[in-house]
Amino acid sequence: MQRFYLTTPIYYINAEPHLGHAYTTMVADAIARSRRLLGDDVFFLTGTDEHGQKVERAAQKAGLDPHVFADKIAGKYRELFKALNISNDDFIRTTEPRHIHAAQAIWRRVRDRGYLYKAPYEGWYCTVDELFVPEAQLVDGRCPTCGTAVERLSEQSYFFKLSAFQEPLLDLYRTNPGFLTPEIRRNEMISFVSAGLRDLSVSRTSFKWGIPVPDDPGHVMYVWFDALTNYLTAVGFPDDETRFQRYWPADVHLMGKEIVRQHTVYWPAFLMAAGLELPRRVVGHGWWLMNDAKMSKSLGNVVHPKGYTDRFGVDALRYFVMREMVVGQDASFTDDVFLTRYNSDLANDLGNVVSRTTTMIQRYCEGIVPAPAAPEPADVALGQRVDAVIASATAQTLAFDFSGALRDVWSLISDLNKYIVTREPWTLAKNPDLRPKLDATLGNSADILRVVAALIEPVMPSTSARIRVMLGIGAESWVGLKSGSIPAGTRLGTIEPLFPRMEHTVEELRQMADNQPINPAPASEAAPATAPTEVAAAPAVPPSQWPMDQRISIDDFMKIDLRVARITAAERVPNSKKLMKLQIDLGSEQRTLVAGISEAYEADALVGRHVAIVANLKPAKLMGIESNGMVLAASPDGGKPLLVSFEAPPSPGTRVR
Ligand code: MSP
Repeated sequence: MQRFYLTTPIYYINAEPHLGHAYTTMVADAIARSRRLLGDDVFFLTGTDEHGQKVERAAQKAGLDPHVFADKIAGKYRELFKALNISNDDFIRTTEPRHIHAAQAIWRRVRDRGYLYKAPYEGWYCTVDELFVPEAQLVDGRCPTCGTAVERLSEQSYFFKLSAFQEPLLDLYRTNPGFLTPEIRRNEMISFVSAGLRDLSVSRTSFKWGIPVPDDPGHVMYVWFDALTNYLTAVGFPDDETRFQRYWPADVHLMGKEIVRQHTVYWPAFLMAAGLELPRRVVGHGWWLMNDAKMSKSLGNVVHPKGYTDRFGVDALRYFVMREMVVGQDASFTDDVFLTRYNSDLANDLGNVVSRTTTMIQRYCEGIVPAPAAPEPADVALGQRVDAVIASATAQTLAFDFSGALRDVWSLISDLNKYIVTREPWTLAKNPDLRPKLDATLGNSADILRVVAALIEPVMPSTSARIRVMLGIGAESWVGLKSGSIPAGTRLGTIEPLFPRMEHTVEELRQMADNQPINPAPASEAAPATAPTEVAAAPAVPPSQWPMDQRISIDDFMKIDLRVARITAAERVPNSKKLMKLQIDLGSEQRTLVAGISEAYEADALVGRHVAIVANLKPAKLMGIESNGMVLAASPDGGKPLLVSFEAPPSPGTRVR
């Protein structure tokens, strides 16, 4: 079994996580999952970088003790990663005793081997990037990377003899071209190091929020010295020799391009100074941009994952970021592209083919998956095509080209759709003589879905599991994955829609999120105030298929206050295809609510009608209008909503049960 040690950067906790942090972690998760599918002994590490002046100041600003502040934000990272289905094996925090112990141990080692010395330091420091900036690189007194005003530091400091490592580092880049990818980052580092390296100040005395320097507690360690050593701490350095031998050196350190320098100059130099092995590979990915600028908390132009995962599901976000950004290049995050990819790739292509295939197996084969077969040359060719996609998609995934791998899988999905259309199983089903061909067609289709489920697993683990549940099959490794091997005769599980189509336009979605990108709206504010056809929470399975353990009690039902309301005024909401603003009379009070019924009803025809509403729903803002309740309507598949009505008009306010 091959071991595979993978890390993300540890994230600063001066502010809450955003999509940029989530992206690195999602990519790392896909890498970790793909290696597990090969049977590797994977150790996947992420965590938080909690020391330094920036964090100390953020805690002060929040009026909190830095420990309390750190606990709070580290908790947010943990929650986010859990919500994003991240399969990390450990979550390290640099304030943990195990890390303080390891950082001090490596400091001693570097010191004892003669690579640290004490001297006065005078220079400029950027607290946002936690970097010393040479005077020549300042831009109008500001940090050239993030534009923050730098601060003058003048204090005694320990220095690390970085200058001693110029040649060894250049040697490393030249003799081991795979050490740093992509190529552009490697070239940047070669020119950076070739220009000469100055010794690095690695301790501070002007603040306290850091790891004390061993034997000189007036100093705390420079935050990068502390932070980088987290990669050693988590694999048992310095006390657990067996574990350390098992996992060190790391196979991949993954990060955004702005911190490649710390990982490919400082980090290997620290390790060489300590006499430890170097990581095998550093991968610097690009940035998510918003309006051409890096999405970052200091610029305040960030997107929060929750706005997207609440509405579209976690796998939709995972799919989007990995399909849209080629690892290594920058990409723009736009809601329009997100929505298009969701509706076309997920709802239309993948969702439809899964639903079509399983529904036909249900209908024509009593829910039992037929054996794959190749009665015609077209079936043989399709099998070969599936094997070719298995080879290319797995190879690309293992080379971190998720975008390429997903493109290949989606082209297979499109071939499968064409195969079904050409074969017309619905016509074959009418003629009993054509039964073998019908079975082969549906068996092959189910088999391709099995392969699709396996190939998308690193990027979309829960979708993969949901497809398998529908097909009635279990998890599958990538070792020996090949076409034609779905077990015949398994019974389908419950069929459910994978990605319900999103009918709202980007503008409507933004309005619902108070004019932000489809962004930070919590689910309760985001729910549309009518029967939720598009943002449906409950799967559209027939009532008979609701699992017993998910049914609700009468007490649960009674919490919903359903009432008769009389519509007293109605007008369409400007710029919205669906929304109608209603004034209603509830007997004891008048209210405004917004309902998604404009496509089905004329405003005038609604006035005077008696409808049923949910009266105790939290208010929600839709297109800037506060809606106080939800009108009940039936939502026929693909049809327009039909209002629930009464045989005779009850008095407004009457309870409905
Ligand atoms: N604490 C340091 C890393 C120490 S590692 C020993 C740090 N933390 S950070 O909170 O600023 O996180 C930086 C990382 O977040 C980037 O390297 C990248 O992985 C991710 N991203 C932050 N903004 C991003 C984008 N706009 N786009 C893509 N990823 C980005 O630096």
